[in-house]
Amino acid sequence: MNWSSVSQTLSVSVGCRDKMLLSLQLLLLLTLTIRTDGYYYYMTTDCITSSSDLTDVEYIDTYHFNKDPVIRFNSTVGEYVGYTELGVKNAERWNKGPEVQQARGELERYCKPNLGIDFSTVLEKTVKPRIKLVAEQQASGGHPAMLMCSAYDFYPPVIDVYWLRNGEKVTSDVTATEEMADGDWYYQIHSHLEYTPTSGEKISCVVEHASSKKPIIIEWDGSLPESERNKIAIGTSGLVLGIILTAAGFLYYKKKSSGRILVPS
Ligand SMILES: *[C@@H]1O[C@H](CO)[C@@H](O)[C@H](O)[C@H]1NC(C)=O
Repeated sequence: MNWSSVSQTLSVSVGCRDKMLLSLQLLLLLTLTIRTDGYYYYMTTDCITSSSDLTDVEYIDTYHFNKDPVIRFNSTVGEYVGYTELGVKNAERWNKGPEVQQARGELERYCKPNLGIDFSTVLEKTVKPRIKLVAEQQASGGHPAMLMCSAYDFYPPVIDVYWLRNGEKVTSDVTATEEMADGDWYYQIHSHLEYTPTSGEKISCVVEHASSKKPIIIEWDGSLPESERNKIAIGTSGLVLGIILTAAGFLYYKKKSSGRILVPS
């Protein structure tokens, strides 16, 4: 047997499916790679919890051969369980020996201290999203308008983005992306609202996130978009400048001509 490599990696992943609970998984991957024509034997150690008070931590130690689990210790079960012939045999032996005694202590010895460190140094930190509200599409020729509300660079990924129309939550014509990982622990999300503008209405995008006690509300400025406002501003400036120059020219002409005596030819 040729032990070609022994590697250890530590990774932390935070699930965002469950909006109520922060689900955390600390995965210690202790990999023993035995290169004998591509077989792969490895062990994973998981510490799983759904809250920072660490009341429901589970310690799971699994031995795999290729993709299949061979034997697993689950702290809730309290002993080794085998899944293959070899696994069953070993589970029987380990459950009578010092192996199971040691495994039973790992929840307190290994999982809780490490999870505590992960919560305090990373997982309980929050970073406020940067929010942008833009018109993706103006209403025209019977087509509805489209607004996009984007939240950038926030942590943790659990977030709620929704729309208010005259103070009421909009439930239809809204499509949103998932929370998308930027790959640097920060996340982004985009929500689209399709609507037909009516005068005097108030539309806002609301973002609720752990980084802010109060919901963050961004009101849509339904007046002309910036590019249109710029065009009008440039046009108005040109008109004013034109009037001033014309007036100045006219006054200059008047002044000059009044000092001259016209001689009839
Ligand atoms: C551990 O065992 C408990 C009790 O059988 C079970 O509910 C839980 O899902 C198991 N955990 C894992 C990760 O398999």
